[in-house]
Amino acid sequence: MNRLRSWVVGAVMAVLAVGAGSFAADPKAEPKKREQPAYETRKNHDPDGIGKFYMNREIAQVMGYRAASWLERPERVKEEEPAKLIEALAVKPGMVIADVGAGSGYHSFLLSPLVGEKGKVIASDIQPEMLELIREKAKRLKVTNVSTVRGTAKDPKLPAGGVDLILLVDVYHEFEFPFEMTEKMVDALAPDGRLVFVEFKMEDDKVNIKLVHKMSERQVIKEMEPFKEMEHTKTVGTLPWQHVVIFTKKDAKK
Ligand SMILES: C[S@@+](CC[C@H](N)C(=O)[O-])C[C@H]1O[C@@H](n2cnc3c(N)ncnc32)[C@H](O)[C@@H]1O
Repeated sequence: MNRLRSWVVGAVMAVLAVGAGSFAADPKAEPKKREQPAYETRKNHDPDGIGKFYMNREIAQVMGYRAASWLERPERVKEEEPAKLIEALAVKPGMVIADVGAGSGYHSFLLSPLVGEKGKVIASDIQPEMLELIREKAKRLKVTNVSTVRGTAKDPKLPAGGVDLILLVDVYHEFEFPFEMTEKMVDALAPDGRLVFVEFKMEDDKVNIKLVHKMSERQVIKEMEPFKEMEHTKTVGTLPWQHVVIFTKKDAKK
């Protein structure tokens, strides 16, 4: 009887050992930082969207460079009150700012004098025609602290860990790969760096902008949930058309 019992115990131990071995993590494998929410394609969708959905939101079509003059319209000052946005950003001289989805560089050139000679503004966009407009303007105005970088749909091509503030004005909702873009942007931020979403208010029917180009504050916060190193620190609601939803990168050393 005793011999049978010790045989059963031995057999169970052997099975457990083999099982543990086959489930043990590969020590060389990169630890997975976070789970990626799935993208979904739907046939029935908004004509201004691309039919691809992320966290139940349809991604908007990219605004083409031929519409760049709309970004520079004089009425924008009254309609969007960019001065309130710039004030909310609390920019300091010497800061490195990335204007991702910079378009014609409307905000890059507002930020340039604030970061001063020691700071810089990196304007990233996927459309080379937009970047060309920025380079032309910088040359015309003799601005030397605004540089351009051509990003891809998945990567804004920013220096890792070297950016104090990333500004996204009316652009995040156009990202074809919002998860991948956000991963790269989070990696590019320095500790305590901020990621700032400026989105047309979905909550306000009076904001006369195509539906897929609007986002609620709640949706922005939901889409940032996989990024645990980022904390929602503030929402500024004083702009007429947009809300400014600010996330700060936690300093791992604190
Ligand atoms: C509506 S415009 C806004 C431009 C600018 N931020 C402004 O407010 O004047 C959106 C811009 O985002 C750019 N864009 C779209 N997806 C992008 C991506 N994955 N990376 C960088 N830029 C992107 C488009 O090319 C376009 O120039």
